Amino acid sequence: MEIFKKVYNAAREKRLMSSCRNHVVRKILPDDYVITKKTVYLPYNRGLKISSEDFVRVAALRLMAYEINESEIEGSVAELGVYRGDFAKYINEFFPDRKLFLFDTFEGFADKDIKDDVKNGYSTGTEDFSDTSLDAVRKKMVYPQKCIIKKGWFPQTTDGVENERFVFVSLDADLFTPIYEGLSFFYPRLVRGGVVFVHDFNNSDYKGVSVAVRKFCKEQKIPYFCLPDNAGSAVILK
Ligand SMILES: C[S@@+](CC[C@H](N)C(=O)[O-])C[C@H]1O[C@@H](n2cnc3c(N)ncnc32)[C@H](O)[C@@H]1O
Repeated sequence: MEIFKKVYNAAREKRLMSSCRNHVVRKILPDDYVITKKTVYLPYNRGLKISSEDFVRVAALRLMAYEINESEIEGSVAELGVYRGDFAKYINEFFPDRKLFLFDTFEGFADKDIKDDVKNGYSTGTEDFSDTSLDAVRKKMVYPQKCIIKKGWFPQTTDGVENERFVFVSLDADLFTPIYEGLSFFYPRLVRGGVVFVHDFNNSDYKGVSVAVRKFCKEQKIPYFCLPDNAGSAVILK
């Protein structure tokens, strides 16, 4: 009888602990915290919403923004490759007091960039990113008054931005040429303590991204590390 009671109490305690843990997880994670379908190694039974948003990428940005804002490093923020602003809206939200430069053709890839990628077998360049508009992007932003939209082919759109200094930059332009040009433009303008995220570093559909990062980092003799987000990101710190 005594042993039965012990086993019963231990099982009850374990059940209570587990239900308590689930309750805590639901309480501390706000509704907008989600895991992506691709983040398969995170268990699905935690009461988190499933969505196409990339939990690892957004959480890494949020943590990085917290560190940068706490240390009061000065500088603007930017994204090259905005499309519909789905990642830019988080940059804008997490850096509320900083100017956000948004670079994109807003008409999809440029033919000359595609040609380089196809010639080298990095990508087909056939994905269509033209179904967007400046208005839709602006409407998505929490602080639209902080956004400066630079529409057109990068790096031709950097006029007037030459003297700017950056504390965070997201490069998400998929192809070798704009990624390499993006690193060449932003890295020298990155302040000490600044960070660059380069998305698609492990995306086999866009092999030019990792080639550009490796080439640039080798030339500049700088290190990078990788994030296990959807399609992978390389992160460069200064
Ligand atoms: C994958 S989408 C960006 C996705 C976006 N960052 C997000 O998280 O939703 C890639 C974008 O890069 C832009 N792009 C690629 N090369 C470019 C260039 N040379 N100049 C300007 N924009 C470019 C394309 O127009 C496209 O909108």
